[in-house]
Amino acid sequence: MADTANRVEPSGVWATAVGVARVRAMETARERPLFRDPLALAFATAGGRDPAAPSPPHADEAARRRWLGVAFSIVIRTKFLDDLLDLAVASGVRQVVLLGAGMDSRAFRMDWPAQTRLFEVDTAEPLAFKAAVLRQERVAPRCERITVPVDLREDWPGALAAAGHDPTRPTVWIAEGLLIYLPEDAVQSLLERVGALSAAGSRMGLTLGTRGVLERFREDAAAGSPASMWVSETPQDPVGWLDTLGWDAQTFTLRERAAAYGRPMRTPRGRTRAPADWSRRCARHPDPTGHGARRQPRSRDAPNMITLRPRLHRALRLPALRVMQASTASERETLEAFLDFHRDVLVHKVRGVSDQDAARRLLPSRTTLAGLVKHLTVVERNWFGRLSDPDVSPAGEEDASWVLTDADTVESLLAAYERACALSRKAAAGYAIDDVVAHPDLPQVSLRWIYIHMIEETARHVGHADIVRELTDGATGALG
Ligand SMILES: C[S@@+](CC[C@H](N)C(=O)[O-])C[C@H]1O[C@@H](n2cnc3c(N)ncnc32)[C@H](O)[C@@H]1O
Repeated sequence: MADTANRVEPSGVWATAVGVARVRAMETARERPLFRDPLALAFATAGGRDPAAPSPPHADEAARRRWLGVAFSIVIRTKFLDDLLDLAVASGVRQVVLLGAGMDSRAFRMDWPAQTRLFEVDTAEPLAFKAAVLRQERVAPRCERITVPVDLREDWPGALAAAGHDPTRPTVWIAEGLLIYLPEDAVQSLLERVGALSAAGSRMGLTLGTRGVLERFREDAAAGSPASMWVSETPQDPVGWLDTLGWDAQTFTLRERAAAYGRPMRTPRGRTRAPADWSRRCARHPDPTGHGARRQPRSRDAPNMITLRPRLHRALRLPALRVMQASTASERETLEAFLDFHRDVLVHKVRGVSDQDAARRLLPSRTTLAGLVKHLTVVERNWFGRLSDPDVSPAGEEDASWVLTDADTVESLLAAYERACALSRKAAAGYAIDDVVAHPDLPQVSLRWIYIHMIEETARHVGHADIVRELTDGATGALG
């Protein structure tokens, strides 16, 4: 029975999701479809885009062909991202986030291993519309499906966390047909945020409008049409751009993917050459989808399907990038970048370890993971605290810091450490690198000396944390 009474009618940008469903319904009805999406017909029909009904007329033959091209690209990209999801799941990833999920029915149509959690993020209206159609179709998802109604230009990481996304576990992210609708700064921020929430082993698949698509479709862009809402396209050097955001990117063109799926394009290749360095840069990275090598693009065949892997663990990505970026920075920025990196590695090595394991003595000395955090918290206070209070560091406090009490949990110790680091940064900000303060033994100490000592001491203890962590659960290295 149709549940139409309370159904929201498609409008604005989310109406495009119904158009995508229409294309998928038509593909599903083909004799040898690239995928089967049995729910697509229900979404399309409920949204007034019945595939059996004639399409709205186009301005001319050229416009009609352009839109056929869009429909074709939707089919190819759907198959491309289905494959990426299959590979991610085969590699052990059990969290999926569909950004701008629209009428994506992968939760219902793909095979998911037990314990897979799939988050669908979109604004409230399309999710409500989708829920009404799903009720009407009486279908059950094949994984744990969680909807997250939020605008992706707002605090969506907060909403995703509240919905249960666990950033310490790997995630496969999909942004399909979404980024073209977001302005450049929102695209940039979205990719930064996804990177920050991507544990090691995560990956992402995204599509962007091919270069020049905004210009090509401008003349068809009647008010309210999808093209009238397109604002972003693939940048000149997508791999370089994503590289600056800490992602290893692999780009694919519609033409070569279509050929690989047995649907070769008949239109001639464009003529303009792609920027010279694309093929070199793309070839540098291994092929994460297993689709094999490909030739790089000419302009109308520019890549618009991209797979990404975060280069570093999410907690270390930005500090480590800062270290790399500091390679020609001032002395002070360089010292700060290195110290912050070691601080972050310490937190990364200890976070997620149980309170019991963190307090376990695995060495003859009192060195434990929890003790290392507690000790370095006192060290931060003793050295940077000296800048605001020369009498800091009562004798013996550093030694006592190795002793744990019942109140010392991993979370409370890390919170105290991160607070101490924040206070250190604040205290240091008021001084120049050559400024000196009194010290009972030295008898004066410069901020430069404090930085170098803190890098040395923090790095030494992080090395201890590496060893204790390896003895605890076998994890090794700064990123392990
Ligand atoms: C063309 S549809 C693609 C839907 C889906 N990814 C698919 O391929 O079936 C674009 C989707 O992006 C969503 N979207 C666009 N801007 C958004 C925003 N700022 N916040 C959340 N979702 C957004 C729309 O609501 C719509 O569902």
